[in-house]
Amino acid sequence: MIRKIFISLLLCCSFLSVSADEGMWLPSLIGSRIKDMRQKGFKLSAEDIYSINQASMKDAVVLFGGGCTGEYVSEEGLLLTNHHCGYGSIQQLSSVAHDYLTDGFWAMSREEELPVPGLSVRRLVRMEDVTERMAAGESAKDILTKAMQGGYTARIEQMYYGNQQFLFVYEIFTDVRLVGAPPSSIGKFGGDTDNWIWPRHTGDFSIFRVYADENNRPAKYSKSNKPYRPARHFAVSTKGVKEGDFTMIYGFPGNTQEYVTADAVEYVAEVSDPMKIALRTKRLDIISAEQAKSAEVRIAFAAVHASIANAWKKWQGEVMGLRRLGTVAKKQAYEREFAAWAKSKPEYASLLDSMKAAYEAVTPEYYIRELYNESVGAVSIFGFARSIAANAAKQDTDNDKLSAQIADFAKSYNRTIDEQIAVAMLDEFLQRMPAERMPKGMKQAVEQKGGAKQFVAWLYDNTCLLNASGVTAEKIKGDAMVEFAMQFTPIIENNRHYAYRNLSNVPAIEKWYRPYMQALREWDKRRAFYPDANLTLRVAYGKVAGYEYADAEYHNPVTTIDGIIAKDDPNIYDYNIPQQLRDIYAKKDYGRWGVEIAGKKSVPVCFLATNHTSGGNSGSPIINGKGELIGINFDRTWRSTMSDIEFDPSICRNISVDIRYVLFVIDRIGGAGYLLDEMDLK
Ligand code: ARG
Ligand code: GLU
Repeated sequence: MIRKIFISLLLCCSFLSVSADEGMWLPSLIGSRIKDMRQKGFKLSAEDIYSINQASMKDAVVLFGGGCTGEYVSEEGLLLTNHHCGYGSIQQLSSVAHDYLTDGFWAMSREEELPVPGLSVRRLVRMEDVTERMAAGESAKDILTKAMQGGYTARIEQMYYGNQQFLFVYEIFTDVRLVGAPPSSIGKFGGDTDNWIWPRHTGDFSIFRVYADENNRPAKYSKSNKPYRPARHFAVSTKGVKEGDFTMIYGFPGNTQEYVTADAVEYVAEVSDPMKIALRTKRLDIISAEQAKSAEVRIAFAAVHASIANAWKKWQGEVMGLRRLGTVAKKQAYEREFAAWAKSKPEYASLLDSMKAAYEAVTPEYYIRELYNESVGAVSIFGFARSIAANAAKQDTDNDKLSAQIADFAKSYNRTIDEQIAVAMLDEFLQRMPAERMPKGMKQAVEQKGGAKQFVAWLYDNTCLLNASGVTAEKIKGDAMVEFAMQFTPIIENNRHYAYRNLSNVPAIEKWYRPYMQALREWDKRRAFYPDANLTLRVAYGKVAGYEYADAEYHNPVTTIDGIIAKDDPNIYDYNIPQQLRDIYAKKDYGRWGVEIAGKKSVPVCFLATNHTSGGNSGSPIINGKGELIGINFDRTWRSTMSDIEFDPSICRNISVDIRYVLFVIDRIGGAGYLLDEMDLK
């Protein structure tokens, strides 16, 4: 009995207060954390982090592209981010003659920097809590219109499921140029094998420069633009890090759901993630097997494979972490206590019941959307069939255009891979889709042909979608592949109603979270609340730390070049380092970057810290107590990815590339040491 009480006490208390290092704080409200931060080693003030009256650190941080973070390291607009964040840009600028992904790229002067069409970075000009303004009747449109004066972009974002509205005003720069990138054998060292894994040895960085007009304002690309002069940039520490040092991450985390109920966690851990993992395992097995047969296929499918595998591995860590922590049971206990408190409060008494009912109604629909997207929705030819059918249906489309579209699709189409995926995904769809929502007659049609394999083969035999000659709008309308793919229309249309970030953000559920969050904040006085990540600027702080995952399984927080050499193997694509690096290592020719580590001369590569981060924090500056850059964040350990739902301070770790390795690679591998001259090296 006593033991039982003790356990339930333990359970409830782990949610009662924000555990050490948990939290992604809004920069404008960082004042509430500054005392804690200073106790832990931060030497600066809240005004240094965020200020509207003077230049502050927030001016040195940008949203890079659509979903990464970047940081300025010089007064001339030099910007650092991850290699995997710059990947698309580097690829776009590459050709057979100039393969910058493989060989790396180093501009040896400003003239050699390469403009990246379509790339933009955004700086937060200011943020403001507009909850009261909106409650007083000011419309979102008015607030945004006013905020955008002066050539800014603005958005209003919901915090705490709509309990608070924040205005974010941005300045968007579109003249962004590639300055440097290491070869992929450094920038992507370890590839998908090491992704989400510690120990890690990836030099995951790339370098850009932002340009502006003569008034230092955003302008579209022009030769006459000048390097942008950020109001603030980070000084770079060359002193290094050691276990226990204070760390802070400033960046744009994309999506967390820390306050959801047990039902939502159970859906993630026991339904959604397992389904998505199973389906992606099949797709990855098919792609990998074909990649192993041909170097050409390996290259062509590298990016596709990486993107499927990235979330696939993350979900496996998330499921494992949530089960390990017993998050569902803990949340149930927490909700029981909440219910006991809420019983006497008419406005909250039936809240959990309403939420449960909403989950019951919405979850099956949300599942269908996820199932469709991960199964038949992931088959290229089905998607193509639907898009060309839409074109053929338009009166004005001529047959030449249709055949051009087919020729274009055929150019990059790999039937061997896509047909196998079509068979496997159709099979999964037929098995997992609830009978009452299955397109009518689909199962029977497939069975009639003898199964998914025969059915898909029959589709390919009876389609004109892979043959550009003689195609007409009429032919397309009656095409077997098109007719088949069009049967998913009702599902796709219904899925649109459920196209939200998470199950809990579907409006029919989310509306209950508004009073629920309010109630939690009234009830759970000891918990330090922070709004879930939503791709707005946040501060997370912690320290450099290793972790013990299981009995005696301790992980050191720092890796070195010696670990790279230990993994090096010319026969393994992910571990085949540049010869240059081997030569430097053989001679221990580290220049100023060689340091004594555990009694040995080496170069530090990556380090672990306890900062609470998420997808979108890639490329974020990780800084020391003095506000100097010590590294660039690029990953978490897969065992910590449940921190998007529950943060466990004992094992949740973010992974950064040590800035000294970045400087070493620029200097010794890239021969672009001149770039260091414009940085403030400390
Ligand atoms: N896991 C990191 C992130 O979530 C890095 C992904 C890119 N690297 C890779 N090997 N796929 O974005
Ligand atoms: N690599 C992730 C990103 O691109 C960051 C890793 C994480 O999810 O923490 O944002």
